[in-house]
Amino acid sequence: MVQLSLQTLLPIALCLSSFASAAPVDGLTKRAPKVLGLDFDVVKAPLNETLLSLVKRGTPNSPLINKLYYYITYLLLGSNKQKIGVDIDTGSSDLWVPNSQTSGTVKEYGYYDPSKSTTAKDIHKLFKINYGDKTSSTGEFYTDTVSLGDGSGKLSNFQFASISLTSVSQSGILGIGLNTLEANVVYNGDVPYNNFPLALKNAGYIDNAIYSLYLNTPDATGGSILFGGKDVAKIDGPLITLQHSGEYNRLDITVDSVTVAGNQITVSAPFNLDSGSTVSYFPTDSFNQIVDSLGGDTSNLFYKRPTVACSAATGNLSFTFHGITIDVPLSDIVLETGDGGCFINLFGTDEEAILGDNFLRRAYVIYNLENSEISLGKPKYTTASSIVSL
Ligand SMILES: *[C@@H]1O[C@H](CO)[C@@H](O)[C@H](O)[C@H]1NC(C)=O
Ligand SMILES: *[C@@H]1O[C@H](CO)[C@@H](O)[C@H](O)[C@H]1NC(C)=O
Repeated sequence: MVQLSLQTLLPIALCLSSFASAAPVDGLTKRAPKVLGLDFDVVKAPLNETLLSLVKRGTPNSPLINKLYYYITYLLLGSNKQKIGVDIDTGSSDLWVPNSQTSGTVKEYGYYDPSKSTTAKDIHKLFKINYGDKTSSTGEFYTDTVSLGDGSGKLSNFQFASISLTSVSQSGILGIGLNTLEANVVYNGDVPYNNFPLALKNAGYIDNAIYSLYLNTPDATGGSILFGGKDVAKIDGPLITLQHSGEYNRLDITVDSVTVAGNQITVSAPFNLDSGSTVSYFPTDSFNQIVDSLGGDTSNLFYKRPTVACSAATGNLSFTFHGITIDVPLSDIVLETGDGGCFINLFGTDEEAILGDNFLRRAYVIYNLENSEISLGKPKYTTASSIVSL
């Protein structure tokens, strides 16, 4: 999810509380020198009436049905290795986990009990984070031992928040963005602490705070993040590197134009690459042009999305960056309403634009937190692997 800065209110990532089950795949494995692979389960919330009624509770500008995928990985917290599943989020920068005081489904993937860990330390600092979908979490910072997946990659005295109050429903969140986007830095002007990617670097597991995101195909049950490396077997053709644009604490990149149904539409705006948002958000003007090109009907909405003829689900929505084009099949964007019609699963926004999962699944993305750069390539969906460190 995109974490709110003081200046912006971003409509994104409504977190639904329900999801289909997927077999947990734990996983921190050492794959190559100075590269750590973190596997995650893709947990899908099916589009059904229950979920649609849940999203109706959204505030007027909160997008609906926009968080249909979670990327759950497991962490082991404390001396007694409390196993907790967290949603991996490139759009925020803090790790928080629910504790015993939280109520609701957020505890479904486990919760933290510092009284059972001999290495837990309350550092007496309040934590509060507000996300762009208007959810928030409040608690207190601790330091404790955090191990990843299979118990390797142990980080001592790692700082994270133990949350007693939250409106997020799916699980705790592992934010892996720039440390200048940590909530207490943004809201209180605190000095950044070493968040997850930086702690891995400081502990010597990786050389650089760089990671590669491979979300896999829309129907896959798992994907992976490589910290400190890239998997060249999963990249089709060249990788191009883009400097960040937009706000200093976000790794935004500029989309030059998109092509849809034969129309090239100039966009020329920064977008945040956010694994915490299922849907992509365009600046209002380009959104309207995309909808027009597809023949969408904005006077007949389906949960705030334009409806469209299902025949629009052919061809691609092609994104042109400086030096590379990423094709997203329109069948990933034009979805069925369930009663014979279709809708365009995109939003327009006057706030920060977002490339969410429906873009990220069709790209191989390397986040370089050291240089504030993003490298983009086309993904090759394969189980083959050839990992090099970065
Ligand atoms: C909708 O999805 C939720 C979450 O997976 C599930 O619990 C519920 O049974 C589903 N409802 C229907 C009508 O399929
Ligand atoms: C859509 O993009 C894919 C992947 O780049 C490409 O193979 C396919 O030919 C494109 N389809 C159209 C209709 O352009």
